[in-house]
Amino acid sequence: MRKMTETDLAAAFAGESQAHMRYKIFAEKAREEGLPNIARLFEAISYAEQVHATNHLRALSGVNTTADNLGVAIGGENFEVDEMYPAYMAVAKLQDEKGAVLSMHYALEAEKIHASMYETARQSAVAKNDIALGTVQICSVCGYTVEGDAPDKCPICAATKDKFRSF
Ligand code: FE2
Ligand code: FE2
Ligand code: FE2
Repeated sequence: MRKMTETDLAAAFAGESQAHMRYKIFAEKAREEGLPNIARLFEAISYAEQVHATNHLRALSGVNTTADNLGVAIGGENFEVDEMYPAYMAVAKLQDEKGAVLSMHYALEAEKIHASMYETARQSAVAKNDIALGTVQICSVCGYTVEGDAPDKCPICAATKDKFRSF
């Protein structure tokens, strides 16, 4: 692909991805405010933005075999753990931005777990095997991720068991 088009598609993928997430989050807020049809409108259009993002990523040849995709996922998680969040958090601490420090601390701690779960999956996928996987529990406050039963108290943010969502 020509370089300028590739850069443009990558920017469009980033923008559509953000719109997808922003509308999903806005939908939750509308539902909390007792506005279910506005929530549904946000959810529907959020999905349309997901379709746009998916098409852009495909056009960028960014969707490959699961073994390859897991390699990309591991690279992203490790970058966040090793470089991105430590550097961003250093700036946020220097600037005394407490909310930013907390949200990035939550992310950094969860990404460490994601990288290792993906690594186990990648080794299996390379051998063309699926993995054995119990219920995956996600803390809805901080994103802490664990396989099996949800803990009584989240080890990252201290949220209680009922705050976990299972997959
Ligand atoms: Fe869009
Ligand atoms: Fe992650
Ligand atoms: Fe948590």
